[in-house]
Amino acid sequence: MSRILVTRRLPAAILAKLDAVGTVDLHDGTSELSPDELRERVMGKQGVVSMLNDRIDRVILDAGRDLRVVANVAVGFNNIDVPYATSRGVVVTNTPDVLTEPVADFTWGLILALTRRLAEGDRLVRQGGWKGWAFDFMLGAELRGKQLGIIGFGRIGRAVAARAGAFGMRVAYAGRTDSGMHGRGVQPSRSAGAQESGLQTAEEMPLDRVLVSSDVVSLHVPLTPDTRHLIDRKALARMKRSAYLINTARGPVVDEAALVWALEERLIAGAALDVYEHEPVVHPDLLRFENALLVPHLASATTETRTAMADLAVQNVIAVLTGQPPLTPVVTRG
Ligand code: DGY
Repeated sequence: MSRILVTRRLPAAILAKLDAVGTVDLHDGTSELSPDELRERVMGKQGVVSMLNDRIDRVILDAGRDLRVVANVAVGFNNIDVPYATSRGVVVTNTPDVLTEPVADFTWGLILALTRRLAEGDRLVRQGGWKGWAFDFMLGAELRGKQLGIIGFGRIGRAVAARAGAFGMRVAYAGRTDSGMHGRGVQPSRSAGAQESGLQTAEEMPLDRVLVSSDVVSLHVPLTPDTRHLIDRKALARMKRSAYLINTARGPVVDEAALVWALEERLIAGAALDVYEHEPVVHPDLLRFENALLVPHLASATTETRTAMADLAVQNVIAVLTGQPPLTPVVTRG
């Protein structure tokens, strides 16, 4: 029988599926395993079900000499040293597709909340600061007739684009096709009708043109050495002063210190972040801005989606440990 480390509590019915292939060592604490704990617990294991905040680096992979599979419960896999795992014969899998639509929905939630100042208004009401309706009170920005710029046009970027027609936005995109996170093939949207129009009319542009001409810029690239701080001072300075930045990809894609500078200098109208450079720490200066909407990495956080992600990760472990091909292996450029 195999031994499988599961680094965070998962739905019991899904966890139970692993009983068919091995015994489970479950970390059911509320905080993540420390690197030392992870190194200890991976020893003697053939499989790991990991979370996006477990750093599976060389040290961990060397400690897990018997490992055959690392199944990440996330579409992103920047927490795993995939080339080293591959060189050690360890299969790495992720959870694409099952979270595409909910993450796209959530992205639009951020766009609407930021441009219509929902979190700011909620804070005001709770603090007793609302003095009554007024003609020019807390005016936001409309989306209709404006341009949504999407950076990273894989599954999630396309699903976000597919919804743009419903809000009367045209889409411009700077595509990346070199990532396993977002770029394996075009996945037509499951939605129909008006929502499709955002995709059908989307126009590809160089990154700089997307930045310069868009009213909302939404990031959907994976975190790689190429995309770290893709949105830096220079990029932010290229955006319209009336534009909004949305990040549901990975925190380090945005240079947070540069974003603080851009908000301070009013170079952009606002930003909505779901992800951060040093989670769960948020750059303290971001907290000062009413026009920074800050949420705690929730884009895929629905009961249905997290259950589907856990199930896919477990199916991947079962496949590899029973000698079958993994369902969703991570594909990297080699
Ligand atoms: C992922 O799967 O990479 C998401 O960030 C999870 O919310």
